Amino acid sequence: MSGLTGCGLSPPSSDTNGDATSIALGRELFFDQSLSADGTISCANCHVPSKSFTDGQGVSIGVRGVPGTRNAPDLSDATAYSTLFWDGRESELKVVALQAFTNPREMGLPDEAALLKQINTQERYARFAKGRPLDQSDIAGGLTQYLRSLPRQPTRYDRSIGEPSLLSMDERAGLALFAGKAACTECHLLAGDPVALTDQRFHHAGVGFEQIAGDVTALLGRLEQSTRTGQPLGELVLSEREIAELGRFAVTRRPPDLGAFRTPSLRNVARTAPYMHDGSVATLDKAVEREIYYRSLGRGRAVNLTVTEQAQLTAFLRALSTEN
Ligand code: HEC
Ligand code: HEC
Repeated sequence: MSGLTGCGLSPPSSDTNGDATSIALGRELFFDQSLSADGTISCANCHVPSKSFTDGQGVSIGVRGVPGTRNAPDLSDATAYSTLFWDGRESELKVVALQAFTNPREMGLPDEAALLKQINTQERYARFAKGRPLDQSDIAGGLTQYLRSLPRQPTRYDRSIGEPSLLSMDERAGLALFAGKAACTECHLLAGDPVALTDQRFHHAGVGFEQIAGDVTALLGRLEQSTRTGQPLGELVLSEREIAELGRFAVTRRPPDLGAFRTPSLRNVARTAPYMHDGSVATLDKAVEREIYYRSLGRGRAVNLTVTEQAQLTAFLRALSTEN
């Protein structure tokens, strides 16, 4: 444990009994497929622990085999973001923790009453009840504590900060490009302890946006209609692809936010293919190639990297991942 703390990585927060019970409840909920409309989907179907809490799909697939519109983010980063989801539509983990249960493109339960009933009638949750049925805040609290307890293991890059020889020559060359000529650190910051690899802001990528560029007025109408009927934004975003492509704009309605998405942290990036908000880029090599191209377009000056340099940059990104 002291090694972890030395790196600035927080150990699981299970100091008190209350926390330990809450984490255990959260873990039980996270893997429970019975809490979905067809009994086949739990949080862990889309946030698979062995895939760094992503699912290996382009876009996630919810109850009854119906796909959503977005790529599942790595939940071991969730506590490090200041806004949640690719469009930053929420900011509190305990709010987000409950949403998947009732989102029709995720677990599809009719409402929170159905969720609580399904939980409180199961024997396995009896040990968590405190002389009364479990309620919404127990569920949200348990899942939040569980997510907070996920250890953020140091990556080889984290460890190399005190010991540069842990990186190969190519990886070190890649690091120099990442922070230098390729200017990736403008958004994937190397600041923080452990390094955040995100600026917590929203940027255009060109990914997917060409598909809706002509339709923005009609989409704005659709967005307003949905707001008027009280449909949660997350339900609209995960069920309508064109709305999903509006990105941050669907939250702020500010024209500069059209097609902008949150900068993803690159921690564990080698383990979270496919890439981008819509999962449209299959491999890390292709994601790097795309980022070099689009980000230099955004700056209005081309970044030319040789084939070797591009491979070095990708090698460095692999060192930002834990081995398991
Ligand atoms: C059908 C697949 C699916 C299921 C089931 C699912 N999620 Fe997700 N989750 C996603 C996708 C896709 C996103 C990104 C959505 C977006 O950005 O609009 C996401 C986003 C999140 C986020 C925000 C992470 C971030 O980086 O901003 C949290 C937290 C989260 N899910 C927790 C959960 C919990 C807890 C459960 C179970 C109660 C759950 N998810 C069930 C697919 C799923
Ligand atoms: C202007 C800010 C910015 C700069 C500069 C930038 N990125 Fe990104 N990066 C983003 C955003 C935003 C996304 C998500 C885009 C999307 O999904 O639409 C992203 C996505 C990625 C992804 C996919 C990650 C995932 O989990 O899906 C990789 C890999 C990546 N960037 C690497 C790089 C590299 C390498 C560089 C330097 C050549 C770079 N980025 C420069 C903002 C930036």
